[in-house]
Amino acid sequence: MLETLKQEVEQLRSAAESECISAGSSKQCEALRVKYLGRNGLVQPLLHALKGVPSEHKAAAGKLVNELKNELQQRLEQTLERLKRAEQDLQLGREALDVTLPGRPLPAGRLHLITQVLEELYGIFGEMGFQVFQTREVEDDLMNFQLLNIPPDHPARDMHDTFYTTTPGVVLRTHTSPGQIHLMRQRCPEPIRAVLPGKCYRFEQTDASHEWMFYQIEGLVVGQDITLADLKGTLRAFVRRTFGAEREVQFRCSYFTFTEPSMEVAMSDGRGGWLEILGSGMVHPVVLKNGGYDPQRYTGFAFGMGVERVAMLKYGIDDIRQFYANDLRFLQQF
Ligand code: PHE
Repeated sequence: MLETLKQEVEQLRSAAESECISAGSSKQCEALRVKYLGRNGLVQPLLHALKGVPSEHKAAAGKLVNELKNELQQRLEQTLERLKRAEQDLQLGREALDVTLPGRPLPAGRLHLITQVLEELYGIFGEMGFQVFQTREVEDDLMNFQLLNIPPDHPARDMHDTFYTTTPGVVLRTHTSPGQIHLMRQRCPEPIRAVLPGKCYRFEQTDASHEWMFYQIEGLVVGQDITLADLKGTLRAFVRRTFGAEREVQFRCSYFTFTEPSMEVAMSDGRGGWLEILGSGMVHPVVLKNGGYDPQRYTGFAFGMGVERVAMLKYGIDDIRQFYANDLRFLQQF
């Protein structure tokens, strides 16, 4: 009786041992625990069989089975620990962190070239005492044209065809000059020395020098005793500060409805030619009056330039369409 029990115990022990050795995962190990030590496991019948063992062998038999049970428990625990560790190592290996790898670069943004040029221009005009004043991009016919001396059907409108909204008379501004009226009405009777930057729109056939949306920067000076000499001195200083002290500046007769007299300003290109850069003139008395100033007592000058044009001249860019084509190969150069 004891002999058969001994044999059975031995069999279970060696079977469990070889199964522990070949177990490949903690999950398999758990299955082994159920198989041997579970409620319906292989050790259970041995424990039951103890009841039938004659009393003189009971102690020895009990010892045998209990030892087996404890041994299997220990063995399975060891196996489980070994397998868990192996699984963890594998996991860590898979998630290995190589701290010597270079970091992933975060793409750094930058200011658009036009923003950079605008900021440079604010700086240059700022040194001359000009404030920066923002005005609206959507205007009505009155502001964009009529108060600037451009009545309906005036031929000057030919150059200023624009985008019309579904509200009659409300348009996208064709120039920053309507800002002159806004600013004068806001400041009158204070003197003014300001630049008014912003987007303008025209219904254009686009080509290398025309876009349907572009930036202008307007200048407006209003006060007592402002003369043509102030205009010339200011714009000459601006050109030399922006494009180089060696530039010659030329003032040419021109025509705008909102200035009288009007002038175009050009600068020498260093090769005997001239580059036109802006329009300007003494603020027309009617425009001063529309802004609230008495033209008998106040005078002023104004100018307006295309910011893309300034950028193109400064950086040798030959096609205005590149500014808004969203091509990073172009934009990242600046
Ligand atoms: N508004 C004019 C244009 O867009 C430029 C300008 C501004 C001319 C101010 C004179 C004075 O062409």
